[in-house]
Amino acid sequence: PLVYLNGSMTPLSEARIPVLDRGFIFGDGVYEVVPIYARKLFRAEQHMARLFRSLAAIGIPNPHDKQQWMALIDAVIKAHPADDQMVYIHVTRGVAKRGHAFPKEPLTPTVFIMTNPLVLPSAELRATGVPCVAIEDLRWLHCEIKSISLLGNVLAAQTAAQHGVVEAIQFRDGFLTEASSSNVWIVRDGKLMAPPKDNLILEGIRYGLIEELCAAGGIRFEARRIAREEVFSADEVLLSSATKEVLPVTSIDGKAIGNGRPGPIYAQLYEAYQAVKA
Ligand code: PDD
Repeated sequence: PLVYLNGSMTPLSEARIPVLDRGFIFGDGVYEVVPIYARKLFRAEQHMARLFRSLAAIGIPNPHDKQQWMALIDAVIKAHPADDQMVYIHVTRGVAKRGHAFPKEPLTPTVFIMTNPLVLPSAELRATGVPCVAIEDLRWLHCEIKSISLLGNVLAAQTAAQHGVVEAIQFRDGFLTEASSSNVWIVRDGKLMAPPKDNLILEGIRYGLIEELCAAGGIRFEARRIAREEVFSADEVLLSSATKEVLPVTSIDGKAIGNGRPGPIYAQLYEAYQAVKA
């Protein structure tokens, strides 16, 4: 399948960037992952807005307007046979002589777009729910930026992989933040809760969507700090992301959450999610 790199469509195996790209040297860039259902971007506006916010947050001049971005992404989607895809968009500050601070001369940002088939959690995983581990959040304090500097997230995901579980749920100073590549939600007494949208978590596009689904479906929602004990004693724990949609967590560190099975708030949100994406 063809990918987009700096102005042209090219086979992935032929896509090349210079080794002095600041993305390669410093992780100096931002990214997006957008789900595509039936060849259409899901929540395109929100993903574009977040990409623009990430670029602005680290002072990379946005190389394209919204229409141009949509045209580039569409070209990549069209070149791929699958109807359901996950598009990956990656922008770095560009290529420059190595030096930590932003170079004085204006750079041309590197823009890379690829797509892959969207692989969603299996019906089996949804039926049982997934196991997770709890870990300390050791990342930096700008988790609201969708940065390509993902070493903290990579190490968290690797801890989960070593435990043979799906995600690592992170806590900072005893309070829930998020998982390695998903937001985390808890349910207590029928009420859904998530950590506030601040610098300690990435505001998932599904965060806003699930808030909307709660309002429409009569589920009470509160954004507030959530202590570690509240997660372990929750009735339900959920994950959300572009590639997980909404997914039930049924154990953490081998301890059952609630009755150890996916709960009713999960079932309602999953059904509502499927309805909005159709
Ligand atoms: N990850 N928090 C983190 C740290 C994430 O990396 C992600 C998404 C989310 C959920 O955001 P959204 O609902 O917009 O997918 C929360 C993507 C899927 C990834 O890195 O592959």
